[in-house]
Amino acid sequence: MTGTPACDNMAPVQRTRPYANDFGPFDGRIWLNTAHQGPLPRIASEAAMVALEEKTRPHLLRDESFFAVPKRLRAALGKLIGVHPDDIILANSTTYGLDLLANAIPWQSGDEVLLVDGDFPADVFPWLLLGTKGVSVRFIKPQEMWLKPQDVAQAISSRTRLLCATWVNSFNGFAIDMAAIGRVCRDNNVIFVLNASQALGARVLDLRNEPVDAITCCGYKWLCGPYATGFCWLSSTLRESLIPLHAYWLAMQAGKPLNQMRDYSLRGDLGARTWDVFCSANFLNFVPWTAAVEYLLQAGPERVAAYDQALVTQLLATLHEDHFELVSPRTEPHRSTLIVLRPRRHQDVEAWQRRLLQSGLDVAVREGNLRISPHLHNTSEDIAKLSEALSMN
Ligand SMILES: Cc1ncc(COP(=O)(O)O)c(C=O)c1O
Repeated sequence: MTGTPACDNMAPVQRTRPYANDFGPFDGRIWLNTAHQGPLPRIASEAAMVALEEKTRPHLLRDESFFAVPKRLRAALGKLIGVHPDDIILANSTTYGLDLLANAIPWQSGDEVLLVDGDFPADVFPWLLLGTKGVSVRFIKPQEMWLKPQDVAQAISSRTRLLCATWVNSFNGFAIDMAAIGRVCRDNNVIFVLNASQALGARVLDLRNEPVDAITCCGYKWLCGPYATGFCWLSSTLRESLIPLHAYWLAMQAGKPLNQMRDYSLRGDLGARTWDVFCSANFLNFVPWTAAVEYLLQAGPERVAAYDQALVTQLLATLHEDHFELVSPRTEPHRSTLIVLRPRRHQDVEAWQRRLLQSGLDVAVREGNLRISPHLHNTSEDIAKLSEALSMN
């Protein structure tokens, strides 16, 4: 099939080589903006080159690859989050799963969707169109910087059908207690939809133990895939309750050869595959993304999470607090891999970003704050350089 040989054994490997050797080149710069775009590991760039080569010389492209490519990606993602591969829905974004739910849940007029004030807009817009079906949207205003189970319990009404929230907030870096919030939702018969885009890849997720009904996630941040990748997972109860919206010919063709296509029977045995993004053998994107997820699996999600947290600890230990107020949390359990800093003199944020850029340090500015998001391609030396630059007068 397309790309690198399938990796049957994706058990984590103990390594002595820095992860940084598997990424780049970064042209002498230091990329500290994974919350925007995670870099492709080199093994994934190589897989992309193979996919590109197959499209350049189409005689190399095999019919089987149209099924093998999505299958292998499903296997890697299923392993990553502890679910059966057949329950993974392949997507092109975080929004894909939210849009799917907004359109396919059989809403009743009068239903209510709860959202979180201050959340990333991808979590908001898909539900706003539901007004035409008589569904209203209400924002929870968390008492503190993060959504607490009590906030949810207080907000739920007899009309509440669904809560959509982000695991790690893109703007302040706070992580919520997914399990506690999920339990409140379960107790109240509310569907809990979690956006994992700023978390999965840097945090460990085992859905066998979490009271979550739907996960949606992009592939191009902490999962180090190309842009326009993503996936979602829905509990079987939720999935089976949905109104069918998709009848994609290639999904209907699963398990059948491509030289016999004119069987128009609508299949009901496709499970999650029914909901895949169209062109689910998106070779140029899914082949390298599969290689990236397999790479993370081999590195070991727990080890990657611990490595990332060590970088965060190093930065926080050396932060120049005369210059910056720390907006994101200093400690667990709400700390993430997004470090958000507010310059003490507020108008300085763009100037700080420019100064860091000139020193070869790529960070983001979001909502008036600096946002720093290191991942496994970064090293302790990178963080030391950043700390030094942040302490300059
Ligand atoms: C929490 C969160 N969700 C979603 C997105 C992006 O949404 P999509 O993948 O649909 O473009 C981002 C960032 O770009 C984000 O930070």
